[in-house]
Amino acid sequence: MDVRVIDHPLAQARLSTMRDARTDNAAFRAALQELTLMLIYEATRDSEVDEAPIHTPVARTTGYRLANPPLLVPVLRAGLGMADQAHRLIPEARMGFVGMARDEETLEPTPYMESLPDDLSGVPVYVLDPMLATGGSMVHTIRLLHERGAADVTVICTVAAPEGVERLDGSGLPARVITAGLDDRLNESGYIVPGLGDAGDREYGPR
Ligand code: URA
Repeated sequence: MDVRVIDHPLAQARLSTMRDARTDNAAFRAALQELTLMLIYEATRDSEVDEAPIHTPVARTTGYRLANPPLLVPVLRAGLGMADQAHRLIPEARMGFVGMARDEETLEPTPYMESLPDDLSGVPVYVLDPMLATGGSMVHTIRLLHERGAADVTVICTVAAPEGVERLDGSGLPARVITAGLDDRLNESGYIVPGLGDAGDREYGPR
């Protein structure tokens, strides 16, 4: 499994702000938004581009744009805090949505909503979720995408647990992971350690 940890100092600084228990909801959202820009920037690093001639005020030169913009898929609720910034960086991207709640006893995902294009063959997909924990929601989401023909899926997360990466790898589904942190483990409640707590609660306040 291709897992890329973005260790740029600015990415690590924003992640540290998110990890800090003293960071309030507004500052957490701001740090998540800035970190999302950096993760998307790295995710698109090797994307194919189309070239076209353009005229600067001075001369003719070559212009570039993404040849095949991705579909952005935030996983609700926590992934919503990444959606606008990802879209800001790739305004031509389409966006789909998947809603997933976690059963706090079994830690398994309960899907409650999906809004995705029917045909994703040939479309790169970026799944946005701050936390790759057990991997249950992510495997379910990527399966939905795969059923629609997606073969090029990138998971964009701020923190990943080894257990989640392993589950994703074991699923055999096509995916790579871009993250700012590969943490130690999950605790008995399914939280990533050291992690940052419940990302949705940190963004929007406790339910
Ligand atoms: N989801 C979260 O928001 N945080 C974790 O640590 C694990 C899953």
